[in-house]
Amino acid sequence: MINNSFVNPLEQMKTLQKTLTRFMMMYKFALHEVETKIEILQEEFQLLHDYNPIEHTKSRIKSPESIMKKLYRKGGATSLEDIKRNIQDIAGIRITCSFISDIYRISDMLRAQKDLNILSVKDYIKDPKPNGYKSLHLLVEVPVFMSDGEELVCVEIQIRTIAMDFWASLEHKIFYKYNESVPDRLLEDLKNAADTAYELDLKMEQLQQEMEEIKHAHQAEAAEEFQLLIDNKKFNIPENLLKLLSGGE
Ligand code: GTP
Ligand code: MG
Repeated sequence: MINNSFVNPLEQMKTLQKTLTRFMMMYKFALHEVETKIEILQEEFQLLHDYNPIEHTKSRIKSPESIMKKLYRKGGATSLEDIKRNIQDIAGIRITCSFISDIYRISDMLRAQKDLNILSVKDYIKDPKPNGYKSLHLLVEVPVFMSDGEELVCVEIQIRTIAMDFWASLEHKIFYKYNESVPDRLLEDLKNAADTAYELDLKMEQLQQEMEEIKHAHQAEAAEEFQLLIDNKKFNIPENLLKLLSGGE
């Protein structure tokens, strides 16, 4: 008699492996899409505005072990669909900007993109965490087109300055996996260090703005040099005359 319910364990393993591979690949592709968007912004900004607001970017896919650990902490998921819904930082990208204003500039440009669905925005710069953590977090959803259909995939984007990144990286190193209570004095020092990093950000922002104003004033002066001074009277040189004389159309 043939048992119809019999499933070859090896076949079952293979199917499971394929399903899991597809699941992880979906996040890899979503991350690629966001990375490409950021590269485009970066390159376009450099070419058109002669300025690069991004210092560097780093992306990562959460390992299956980390996904399981988070799942145990959160509890409840019994299927890949559940995991997809509950764990929204499987794909993550961190953008380190030069100045605070660049963070919002990049965020606004991403938020304006029609094919990025913004699920949430957490502004830990305006409202830092009690320990002093600062960053702008965007949770976005991107469409990923696979051979068997479209998937909407979550990507967590963290945008911060070099100073905020410096603080967060070291805070993570110092306190990572320490579940006992940390003395208040240390927590206070940590918060003070975050404030100092922020003061540095504000100082650099101010320096940059002042320098921009000086540069603009220079450019205005340079434009003024394109005038003729005859009998102490200023004459503007018509643009088409300049073109004609310089061999343009
Ligand atoms: P997670 O469950 O940890 O992902 O937090 P969440 O879902 O409440 O989101 P939240 O926006 O608070 O944090 C998401 C991510 O931001 C974390 O995984 C870290 O990468 C980073 N982050 C948040 N808080 C801190 C912090 O206090 N210190 C450091 N170093 N990183 C932080
Ligand atoms: Mg996380």
